[in-house]
Amino acid sequence: MPRAVNLARHPTGAVRPEDFEVVETPRPEVPEGWFLIKNRVFSLDAGFRQWMSAGAGDNYLTGMQLNEPVQSIVLGEVVESRHPDYAVGTLVNARTAWEEMSLLDGTDLCSPLLAADDMALSEYMSTLGPTGMTAWLGLNHIGQPKSGDVVVVSAAGGAVGTIVGQLAKAAGCRTIGLVSSAAKAQWLTDEVGYDLAISREAHPDLAQALVEAAPEGIDIFFDNVGGSVLNTVMQHLQEGARLVLCGAISQYEAEVEPVSHTWELITKRARMEGFMFSDYIDEFPAVIEAMEKLLRAGELKTFDQCYQGIEQTPTAFCDMMSGASRGKCLVVLED
Ligand SMILES: NC(=O)c1ccc[n+]([C@@H]2O[C@H](COP(=O)([O-])OP(=O)(O)OC[C@H]3O[C@@H](n4cnc5c(N)ncnc54)[C@H](OP(=O)(O)O)[C@@H]3O)[C@@H](O)[C@H]2O)c1
Repeated sequence: MPRAVNLARHPTGAVRPEDFEVVETPRPEVPEGWFLIKNRVFSLDAGFRQWMSAGAGDNYLTGMQLNEPVQSIVLGEVVESRHPDYAVGTLVNARTAWEEMSLLDGTDLCSPLLAADDMALSEYMSTLGPTGMTAWLGLNHIGQPKSGDVVVVSAAGGAVGTIVGQLAKAAGCRTIGLVSSAAKAQWLTDEVGYDLAISREAHPDLAQALVEAAPEGIDIFFDNVGGSVLNTVMQHLQEGARLVLCGAISQYEAEVEPVSHTWELITKRARMEGFMFSDYIDEFPAVIEAMEKLLRAGELKTFDQCYQGIEQTPTAFCDMMSGASRGKCLVVLED
């Protein structure tokens, strides 16, 4: 029987593996207009933590229910079909759940995937998937990088952050990454290619560290963290700065913190804008093509951490949330 990972309890505070349960589920019957996919890769995304809490749910997604499979973006292959657009063998990207088999009707961010022969399938759940789209579209549409800009990225060692840093660097910017540990900061400069990395471990006073790292101020802040980090960075802006609000991970498992330095946006003529990657769905094919070229040319590198097998999913998700993993966190399912 196919397995799924259910939400066993609504997490409070830091998510734990015991919040999830791996269960066996009956293989679904396929009604007319539907198709069944066998999932190959799960994308583990920090944003989904928001919708795991009790009472969660907003204009974007419904809150997750207990004893239901945990929502996720996945890559799968059609194994049975009664849908005209999804023949058996088609690869599919979809927002469904942590399950070995998913029954779909082609809605909800579902689309056939044309994977290039020379790309690993996992690339389509990282650089060539929603993570890469988020990095590219947020940076280019809202950040609008120019050569010489100082770009600061929070959660810089994660899935989105490792791509944003490389893209900003390729655009001629000076890149500064914010991370938790000194070891991750070292990796960020040595391997990912950030010009500078500031860790909370080595530099608990972020405000002072930013004054030293960017004495002229920050042109672009690509923010994945929110809360006090955003509030602090807002005090070090360059005239005409752009603040890309991508995520607020510091607020997903804790009390929401106030952001008080909005006056700085006025005097610095700065612009702060949030976005969801799915706003730009029409641009995905062109962005994927551009990113494939960069990957082939070796001008962009995917940093990922793959966990094997559905039973590893709870641990993988917790590792990603706590910062124990680096780059894009994925679960690869057995054949
Ligand atoms: N707007 C969109 O369309 C969109 C799409 C995708 C993702 N996102 C957002 O982008 C952000 C990154 O997502 P991702 O999937 O790429 O995750 P990720 O960056 O791979 O993983 C999350 C990282 O955030 C850091 N972190 C965790 N708690 C933190 C805290 N309290 N303060 C500071 N840093 C903390 C950890 O790294 P450290 O070791 O550095 O602490 C952790 O590894 C999330 O906020 C997510 O919601 C937005």
